[in-house]
Amino acid sequence: MSINTEMNVRVAAIDQVAEKVKRFRFERVDGSPLPVFSGGAHIVVAMRDGDILRRNPYSLMSSPHDQTAYEISVLRVEQSRGGSAFMHEHVKLGDQLTISQPVNLFPHDVRGRKHIFMAGGIGITPFIAMMDQLHRDGSQFELHYAVRDRNHGAYWRELSERYGNHRIKIYVDAEKLFIPTEAILSNQVLGTHLYVCGPSGMIDAVLGKATSLGWPKQNLHSERFLAPPPGHVFKAELKRSNKTITVGTHQSILEAVEAAGVDAPYLCRGGACGQCETSVLACDGTIEHHDIYLEPEDKISGKKIMICVSRVKGQAISLDL
Ligand SMILES: Cc1cc2nc3c(=O)[nH]c(=O)nc-3n(C[C@H](O)[C@H](O)[C@H](O)COP(=O)(O)OP(=O)(O)OC[C@H]3O[C@@H](n4cnc5c(N)ncnc54)[C@H](O)[C@@H]3O)c2cc1C
Ligand code: FES
Repeated sequence: MSINTEMNVRVAAIDQVAEKVKRFRFERVDGSPLPVFSGGAHIVVAMRDGDILRRNPYSLMSSPHDQTAYEISVLRVEQSRGGSAFMHEHVKLGDQLTISQPVNLFPHDVRGRKHIFMAGGIGITPFIAMMDQLHRDGSQFELHYAVRDRNHGAYWRELSERYGNHRIKIYVDAEKLFIPTEAILSNQVLGTHLYVCGPSGMIDAVLGKATSLGWPKQNLHSERFLAPPPGHVFKAELKRSNKTITVGTHQSILEAVEAAGVDAPYLCRGGACGQCETSVLACDGTIEHHDIYLEPEDKISGKKIMICVSRVKGQAISLDL
């Protein structure tokens, strides 16, 4: 069972904000206020796609103080397994959807003297709400935002107008403008915190550079919009539920578990929060760990699996579920 309480919302607006990026505005069906959240939080959007129930996490990008509506922005992923394609092609104005309560796994550190955000592409979304919050609080921040070209990048104009060019720096791949990571990270006051969200390669490069320049680990924060690769079909025995299920090529174990009517806990559905950690009782094959939560020794032990993203290369797995 998810520890979330779900809420029914109506799609109040849909806007194409960049090539392949749509913004969705959700209002509560019963008109009551939505819960306050903090910048960096995400919700999980449930999508009924025929027989399939998809659940994808999306960062909230509206003002954390606005309880009348939540806004998310969704990139239409080229090789989508269904979720982002469903949001782009099937969700219409006035439709009803179910969303989870907001959860924040990527908050800013309130002790930070200054906050540096580095975003790549759609990784801009959590920072939009964070900057709104920091701006209201009078805190120091700056954004370094890399986009493929000016048509693909969402919100850069609005952000520059709102916060000024001294705080919002845009880098455009097509114009050969890249984030000068080393120069930025080499010249910061003590107590500065760094936040990165974007493609995995970018996150690894920025965090690696910060570490090599001596930044303390506790000042480094990142969020990955993890999209692990599909794999082979395999069986999963759910020992406590006394069921054996089939996990499809384009399905996570968590999705197959839910489709079988078994409740399993989750928060991020992206391999980061630890909520869906499940004990492995036996495995006929190799576990393909795609999460960033388990310690390397846990992964090697083969006794734990994060069922939202990891899967099995082999015939079957037996789980304590
Ligand atoms: C915390 C968080 C915040 C996010 N915020 C945003 C945002 O603001 N905007 C945005 O555009 N995207 C965001 N994402 C990414 C988003 O949730 C989706 O991954 C993205 O929209 C692509 O989804 P898709 O279904 O189209 O395609 P895919 O990425 O191809 O598929 C994702 C689906 O694959 C399933 N899956 C997971 N692991 C496996 C596996 N090993 N094998 C088979 N299937 C698997 C998942 O259950 C999920 O439903 C966020 C992700 C996270 C974790
Ligand atoms: S739900 Fe967060 S790691 Fe699986």
